[in-house]
Amino acid sequence: MTVKLRKPTAATTPIHLVDRSTFEATAAAMPAATRRWLTTLGFKGDPDTRALVPDADGKLASVWAGVRSAAHPYALSALPRAVPVGRYRLGNEGLTVDPEAAALSWQLGAYSFSRYKSPRRAPAELMLTPGPGATRGLMMANALCAARDLINTPAEHLGPAELADAVHKLADAHGASFHQTVGDALLKEGFPAVHAVGRAAARPPRLIELLWGDPDHRRLTLVGKGVCFDSGGLDIKSPEGMRQMKKDMGGAAIAISLASLVMELRLPVRLQLLIPAVENAIAGNAYRPGDVIRTRKGLHIEIGNTDAEGRVILCDALAYGAESRPELMIDLATLTGAARIALGPQLPALFCRRMDLARELVDRSLALNDPLWHLPLWRDYHRGIESEIADIVNTGRGPMAGAISAALFLEDFVPKDMDWLHLDVFGWNDVPRPGRPVGGEAQAVRTLLAYLEQRFR
Ligand code: BES
Ligand code: ZN
Ligand code: ZN
Repeated sequence: MTVKLRKPTAATTPIHLVDRSTFEATAAAMPAATRRWLTTLGFKGDPDTRALVPDADGKLASVWAGVRSAAHPYALSALPRAVPVGRYRLGNEGLTVDPEAAALSWQLGAYSFSRYKSPRRAPAELMLTPGPGATRGLMMANALCAARDLINTPAEHLGPAELADAVHKLADAHGASFHQTVGDALLKEGFPAVHAVGRAAARPPRLIELLWGDPDHRRLTLVGKGVCFDSGGLDIKSPEGMRQMKKDMGGAAIAISLASLVMELRLPVRLQLLIPAVENAIAGNAYRPGDVIRTRKGLHIEIGNTDAEGRVILCDALAYGAESRPELMIDLATLTGAARIALGPQLPALFCRRMDLARELVDRSLALNDPLWHLPLWRDYHRGIESEIADIVNTGRGPMAGAISAALFLEDFVPKDMDWLHLDVFGWNDVPRPGRPVGGEAQAVRTLLAYLEQRFR
């Protein structure tokens, strides 16, 4: 743990936080030698810049750090690996950072995926006075980093069974119940679409379920796409397209992360977490283009392309989730390349039938620096997923509006009157930024959590 919730001692090095507009005034209150040193370095308080200030003995006396804003989720993220290994505290001079943002941003900045290789250097430690804000920031960071670890773990070490283990551990930690339906039992229990996609893999497919909270509380269902590896199936992906497909369980990782926070914060909800977990593999018994699958809901779906597998497994999970009549159902999925073409890696696409709710979520997401962008469930495009021989087909007719087609497909499995959010996420940082190294990313968790707290608390 690189953030320590303990009253900082005098032995820690102070970090003075400034931005361009507060730098001058803060520096003016400092000894002349310090001011001259900062001028020598050209430090002016720009975001993610810093200056190390020595004392007369050549020891580190203080750190000056430029930050974006006091409540920014990555305010301090550049520091843990930029300042020398040691213990730090936030100084009294300059800006005060909100304790939640301090804990969150430092801990995220200290993250590295270290399962196979230890980081070049240890992160520096921050001592923070204990308090509810700091505790919450740390809890949030740990939940986000757990999702990153799941996404970063290669398919070889994270198959459907290992994903189930992660949910099982979480259930045990919070006194939740855990249940899974594995392999051929999926057919008996009424999850034929999950079975069809996952049956060709050596590692059996499954539907993972966690239930938590007072059964009398309002019901919330979270669903996450758990494709532990997406080869594309018989419609095999290109090498470039397949390279990152260990991350195709990103939706599941994010749903698990959100569920863990809902439980940890003891939101007054009856929580159901559903993860259809499969490997989209190739073998003699693989599902094929042109196959028709009868789903849990009874709708028949035609397979236009075996690489559009996410919507196929999700349709059974959504239908099952809807059976317990939740007040709100949210699904998260690395569903389409088209969503990335439209919005790029940083903006998960949000689909929602209620315009007011979509706008509220987008506004909230921008305020929290955990952005979402609203795309429409444009009804007229539904004709593009109508099939000649079945109810619907899992690919659109043409190359256009792929993310919308996928969302419209899912919509057919959600009752008309149910509040439902669908997020098409990337789940990955493709360029390094402070606090966001290249690799798995738990997008949308902070935004959704804030919304859930407001709605259910
Ligand atoms: N997992 C992919 C979508 C994806 C690709 C997400 C790259 C993030 C990065 C999904 O299963 C898929 O392959 N979708 C196809 C659907 C198409 C065949 C209709 C796609 O988007 O190309
Ligand atoms: Zn696919
Ligand atoms: Zn996929």
